Amino acid sequence: MKWMIVEKGEELAQVAYQFLKQEIERHPEGLTVGLATGSSPVGVYEEWRKDALDCRHVTTVNLDEYVGLSPEHPQSYHTFMQEYLFKDVAFKESFVPIGDTEDPVRESERYEALVRNRGIDIQLLGIGANGHIAFNEPGTPFDAKTHVTELTESTREANQRFFDRLEEVPTKAITMGIGTIMEAKKILLVASSERKAEAVRDMMEGVATTDCPATVLKRHADVMVILDEEAASLLSDDAKRTGRAAYLNFMKV
Ligand code: F6R
Repeated sequence: MKWMIVEKGEELAQVAYQFLKQEIERHPEGLTVGLATGSSPVGVYEEWRKDALDCRHVTTVNLDEYVGLSPEHPQSYHTFMQEYLFKDVAFKESFVPIGDTEDPVRESERYEALVRNRGIDIQLLGIGANGHIAFNEPGTPFDAKTHVTELTESTREANQRFFDRLEEVPTKAITMGIGTIMEAKKILLVASSERKAEAVRDMMEGVATTDCPATVLKRHADVMVILDEEAASLLSDDAKRTGRAAYLNFMKV
C-alpha cells in the first residue's frame, strides 16, 4: 500500500484526479474505471469536469446503488453520477447497478458478470467511518462477489444528509463485493476529514480483518491512498512523514 498526505480536501481532489488522469492517458486503447459516490469523490469529479480530457475510450462501472430507488430518483447513485460527472464528460459507456429491479439478487449476478467481463483497470474508493468499502459492511467476507447487502444503522445515519428523513434512506443496497473490488488492477482510495481518521488508521496500521473491510486492501498489490491531514491524524509519525514526502514527490513529476 502506498499513500500520500495532502493539507486539505482541495489538494486531495486535484492529486486524485491527476492520478486517475495519468491512468486514463496511459491506456489510449481503452480502459475501465470503477467509480464511487458519496462526498469523497465530489471534488475529484469537479476537477474531471473542468478538464477537457477525452474519455470516449473509457468505460465506467459504479460500485453500488440503493435497492428500491429508480435511476431517476433524486437520491439514486444514477442521478448522483449524472449530476457530478456524466452530464459533462462523455464516456464510451457507463454502468451503475439497477436499484428498482424486482429481483435484486439477479441484478447483482448480472452486474458481477458485467464487471468481470470488462475487468477494472483502476477503482476509485472512499471509506466509511466504520471501515466499509463500497457497501461492504463490517463482517462481509473478503471473497464476496456483487451482492445485496443490508445497510448498518451507522451507514444509514451517515447518508441521511442526502435525504429529508432517516426513514427515507433505503435499508439495502446492491454492492460490488470485496472480492470484485480486489480484482481491480489498481485501487485509488481517498479519505478526508477527522471522521475517517480511525478507519484510516485501522486500514493502514491494523491487521487484515473483516471487522474493518478496508483492511483487505493490504493484500492488494497496487493501492494508492490519498489522505488529507485530518484523515491521517491518527497515523504514526513515520507514516505521516512518508505520506507527506510522497505527495511532494508526486507534485515534482
Ligand atoms: C459510495 C460508496 C461508499 C462511500 C463511503 C464514504 O459509492 O461506495 O463506500 O465511499 O460510504 O462515503 P462519503 O464519501 O460520503 O464519506
